[in-house]
Parts: sequence; structure tokens; C-alpha cells
Amino acid sequence: MSTVLIIDFGSQYTHLIARRIRQLNVYSKVVSSDINPKDIDADAVILSGGPSSIYDENAPLNNTLIAYLVKHNIPTLGICYGMHHIVHYFKGSINKGKKEYGISTITVKDDPLFKNLNKHERVWMSHGDSVEHLPEGFDIIATSDKCPAAIRLKDRMIYALQFHPEVNHTEHGIQLLDNFLDLAEISRDWKMEDFVIEAEQKIKKSIGDKKAIIALSGGVDSSVAAMITAKVIKKNLYAVFVDHGLLRKHEREFVENTFSDSLKLIVVDAKERFFKKLEGITDPEQKRKIIGNEFIKVFEEEAKKIGARYLIQGTIYPDVIESGSTCNSETIKSHHNVGGLPESFDFDELIEPLRELYKDEVRIVGSTLGLPPEVVLQHPCPGPGLAVRITGAVNDENIRIVRDASAILDEELKNSGWHDKVWQSFAVLLEDRVVGVVGDQRKFGRVVALRVVQSVDAMTANFVKLPWDLLERISTRITNEIGEVVAVSYFISHKPPQTIEPC
Ligand code: XMP
Repeated sequence: MSTVLIIDFGSQYTHLIARRIRQLNVYSKVVSSDINPKDIDADAVILSGGPSSIYDENAPLNNTLIAYLVKHNIPTLGICYGMHHIVHYFKGSINKGKKEYGISTITVKDDPLFKNLNKHERVWMSHGDSVEHLPEGFDIIATSDKCPAAIRLKDRMIYALQFHPEVNHTEHGIQLLDNFLDLAEISRDWKMEDFVIEAEQKIKKSIGDKKAIIALSGGVDSSVAAMITAKVIKKNLYAVFVDHGLLRKHEREFVENTFSDSLKLIVVDAKERFFKKLEGITDPEQKRKIIGNEFIKVFEEEAKKIGARYLIQGTIYPDVIESGSTCNSETIKSHHNVGGLPESFDFDELIEPLRELYKDEVRIVGSTLGLPPEVVLQHPCPGPGLAVRITGAVNDENIRIVRDASAILDEELKNSGWHDKVWQSFAVLLEDRVVGVVGDQRKFGRVVALRVVQSVDAMTANFVKLPWDLLERISTRITNEIGEVVAVSYFISHKPPQTIEPC
């Protein structure tokens, strides 16, 4: 099988590169930036972006790796920081602080890397520095109005890009990566079924004939992880569903109805202990840490009763990268199942079969395993649930308001046919109060904000331009049906700069 190695310099998008390469049916693996060149066993290498500046004191540099790639003629593509690293290695220079964030238009020259692309292309830029002096032997093959957008070492398979072809906002990014694979003569011989087979083998090897529990939320990730694990260890798998009082309307019934026949389901009533721990807490990171910790305590208790020493989680890659859990990367938010976990816990092993995948890939796996569309296509909801959809403290009133508002939004999106057209939709309860007038009287009331986004993999997202009359209907229902709410607003920012969830 052909292999493309992605060298991780800490970009939020590193694994997205691997995901794109898999999408092009090529096996791809992410490895740390300090990899020893003698461990390079690949048909091509991509150097990722990263948050550092090449001249930072602690910038991750691996000059021996680049020397090795050049010496052995291994096709190489540098992206953003990866580009700066190549330029730095060849003794060019980088201009610190020539920033570009967001969509940019580049003009491309005639080079096979741009086969089937237009002369002017919309690309996603996200860089603080840029190339100033090109090293000897390199040509500029694309430019933006601010900087060299793509360069190539003459007559060699060493390319570098300032923009991010792996991000969906780069209109023909996947075509460009496809062209790179063609130029590198990579054969397309990997498929998603290979991933499932490999995951099953790993589970078999770790758990054997022992007992395990899965943290089941009923969302697509934990449901798919449960199905893969159940295929391997069968009756030795126990699914633990925690009702922490932060669930959406009818969520518990949905899980009970969907899984009580196919899995050994244990439902734990844990509202009181979660609310007690969260009392008065408004800081989102603190909320996430408390919830992650409390989840693990519940799982430890249930595992003890059963005699299980393995915990399975449906963690997916965006949970890992946003929690800052890879070498060189920043913490954006601590997803409850990664950054929110305590430092140690009482299990022999934590097994996360989907840790390398993105949501859209998990959905493909879920469909191939025969999970119903209500599970596979449902909108994502984070493990901390409604706690991270209120900017204030967790209490009965706040949770009731955000739960009811979300249910109204959901109902109206379903009635109008929009629900299945968008990636994710939910209501958020803000802490601000605003003045309203209700029945001729002043009311200093609550504000609900609606978040409806389109995405492919949750790494980037766009707000959805819902029709005004639909938004008006939702707003009217929320203010009429939830007494405390006097104002409804709509988030009209993309990710980045906003994230999808508010907390
Ligand atoms: P953000 O808000 O970071 O979210 O743009 C990206 C995707 O991840 C989901 N999300 C989570 N999922 N545990 C989860 O299982 C979490 O703590 C968590 N936080 C965010 C979010 O709903 C979106 O789909």
C-alpha cells in the first residue's frame, strides 16, 4: 500500500491533510515533527502548518529530515509553516508578521501542480509570516497580492504552499492534492473498510475475551465505536449512558429506544452530582474539566460493578486537536473526552477506535455497519451537552430555557425541511439581559442566540443563511413560549473566527 506521511508541526489542520489524502484513497499517517529520518517509510511527505514562527526560540525544526527528503528524492509538499521550514532550510528568508487570515485570491502559473485549476483561485490563508527572499533554485509558481503563494524547487518534486489546500474554503484544494499525488506517482489503493478491519484487530488484541464498557451518548461517534467494539467482544461490552441532566429534550428516550435491544445498556441517573459540581461555575474550560472528571468517576463506578477494566470512547479527531493534545498544537477548547479527562483514572486502558477520523468519515463507517440514519445523520451534540450552550451557570432555569429553545428551533427546522440540510443547529442562552416590553410592561429579560452552521468536518464552518420568515417564526415562538426570553439573536460568524459551540 502506498503511504503518505504527514509531519505534524502543530497546525489545527494537520490531520485534515491526512483525511484529505484518505479521501483520495491513499493510506496516510500523521507523525511527530521530531521523527528520525531513518523511520521515514513513505512514498511522499507533507510538512504541515503550525502555530510557531520559524525564528521562534522553540520553533519545531527538523533540518535532518528535510536533508533526507531532498537526498532521497522523496516527493515533498510543505504547507504554511512547512513552506517556511523548507525556505529556511535552503537559506531563504521569512518575513515575520506579514499576516493574512481568511479567503484570498491567488494567481497561478503554468505548473502541473495546478492541473485543472483556474488561473485565479480562491484559497484559505492563515499565516502570520510569509516568504521574503526565495532560496536559490526555487521558482514562484503562484502569488497572492501579499506574498508568494506557491513555490517549487526547479525540476524536483519539492513544492511548498503558503495557503491551506486541505481546508474546505480552498475551493480546489482537493484537486491540488490529487495533482500532487499524481506527480508523486502514488497508487490509490486504500479504502474505509481497511480502517474498520484495522480497528477491529486492535480491539481484539487489547481486550481479548475480557469485559469493557463504552461511554455511550447516543451520538454518532460513540454509537459507531460501540458497534465496532460489539462486533469484536460481543456480550462482554456494556454500554453506559449517563443522564447528567444536561441532555436535550427526549435524548434519553431516544438512546433507550435505539440501543436497549442491540447493546447491554446501563442508564445512570447522575443529574444531582453533576449539578452540584457545576454550581456557580461559568468559565467554559472549568465546566468542561468538571464534566470530563465526573463522567470518568461514573464510568469507574459502573465498571467496578461489572468487573470491566477497559473504557471505550467515541473520541474523534477534532476532539483531540481542539483539546491541544498533539505535539506543538494549541488548546482551543477542552473537549470533555480528551482535555476534560482527569490526569489518571482506574482503567487498564482507554480505547478510542475512531480517534483518527473526522465526523463525515465516522458517518460513512456508521452506514457501512448498518446503523440507522436517525443515528448516523443526527446533528452533533457535545458530551457536556447543554452546559456548554449557556454562557452562565448551570441551574434548572438556565437548562430549561436553552433546552426548550433548542427544541423549538429543531421542530421548526424539521417542519421547514432545513434540519437535514444543515450540519448542526442549536440554541444558546446568553448571560446578558436586555429590556423588552411584554403586555405593555417593561421586562428585563433573557437573550437566546441561535447557531445554525454548515460544515463538512467541523474544522471550519459557515453560518447558514436561513430565510428571514423562518427565523421570524422561530423567534416569535421562542419569545411566546418561554416566558423569560425577550430577545432572539442569530450568530452570523463563521468558524474561524468563532467556534461552533459558544463555550
Ligand atoms: P467547536 O465548538 O470546537 O466544535 O467548533 C467542533 C465540533 O465538536 C463538537 N464538540 C464536542 N464534542 N465533546 C464532544 O464530544 C466536547 O466536549 C465537544 N465540544 C465541541 C461540537 O458540537 C462541534 O460539532
